[in-house]
Amino acid sequence: MTTTEAREAVAAHSEASSSEPTELLRVEDLVTWFSRGRGIPPVRAVDGVSLSLHKGEALGLVGESGCGKTTLARTAVRLIEPTAGRIWFKGQDITEHGRRQLAPVRRSLQMVFQDPYASLNPRMTAGEIVAQPLRIHHRYRHAGGRAKVAELFELVGLDPDHLGRFPHEFSGGQRQRIGIARALVLDPEVIVFDEPVSSLDVSIRAQIINLLADLRDELGLAYLFIAHDLSVVRHIADRVAVMYLGVIVETGERRAIYQQPMHPYTQALLAAVPIPDPSRRDRARPLAAGELPTAARPPSGCRFRTRCWKADDRCACEPPELMDRFDHGHPSACHYAAPREAVER
Ligand SMILES: Nc1ncnc2c1ncn2[C@@H]1O[C@H](COP(=O)(O)OP(=O)(O)O)[C@@H](O)[C@H]1O
Ligand code: SF4
Ligand SMILES: [Mg+2]
Repeated sequence: MTTTEAREAVAAHSEASSSEPTELLRVEDLVTWFSRGRGIPPVRAVDGVSLSLHKGEALGLVGESGCGKTTLARTAVRLIEPTAGRIWFKGQDITEHGRRQLAPVRRSLQMVFQDPYASLNPRMTAGEIVAQPLRIHHRYRHAGGRAKVAELFELVGLDPDHLGRFPHEFSGGQRQRIGIARALVLDPEVIVFDEPVSSLDVSIRAQIINLLADLRDELGLAYLFIAHDLSVVRHIADRVAVMYLGVIVETGERRAIYQQPMHPYTQALLAAVPIPDPSRRDRARPLAAGELPTAARPPSGCRFRTRCWKADDRCACEPPELMDRFDHGHPSACHYAAPREAVER
């Protein structure tokens, strides 16, 4: 054994046996309110959320539009200042980190946005876009610059001959691949995907989701994957958190969420997922009439009560806590949470 091999063997051993924490990102009691001026109630976009993301894990964050998913994700990666609560990255409290202290965290925590049209600078070539984070972090040369970018192009299924093309010369799906390559260029540990396939044609979605699943396996990445319905995260998430009006109402392993949803909101979301065979359609009621209430004045007690078919007086006064009511490692925030066998789909 050469010295290098010996050193590598020791390193590999200590890596495997060390008690290095596997928790990458954690938020606790996170609150993000947007103020709208004096005398006007603030928008309580995120109103007390605790979540954690572990090494190699994909956590799906689901809830309808306007419930606070983007704000939660952007606060968790320190793009928006939290109003209250704490954020940890790899065991380190980063809530009050300044710009310089955040630089290494920013490299490890990347984000991919919903709209590949709006998020790519139209005046830069695809190659420049993917290389930009390297330049910002002064790592272009160190990382091998152009060769690294070409390698990433291949990894995400783009033709390296097209490095010099501009965003408008690519299709929607290809543009999202450029966004993914850009998120990978700094070798991150966590990627936050904010509805990465919502703006794409249905026919393209599966391709992108498969690509993301492969990349996760290959690179050992952890994902926070945001979607507004449960059909998209089903193929990628190990764990799912369901969000409603600024709070998490249910969270658990993927299987538990899809097969035994406990919260009426999760049950309604699942009932809304189209299934091909109408005779197998779920009998859970679809989302009650009415829209998402304003986050500036959430309903008293349970926030879901204005749309819930099980709501009663207790729901109007007592906010249900998110807790593991049945000891299944599957917490829900409903006074009348009850496991219900969902139709397998
Ligand atoms: N910068 C902002 N200023 C004021 N209100 C905002 C801002 N960003 C989001 N909101 C409001 O916060 C709530 C949650 O929005 P968002 O986090 O975008 O939800 P989602 O991503 O689930 O659609 C909405 O009521 C939205 O209008
Ligand atoms: S606490 Fe009441 S209103 Fe809220 S989800 Fe449960 S039954 Fe519905
Ligand atoms: Mg959003």
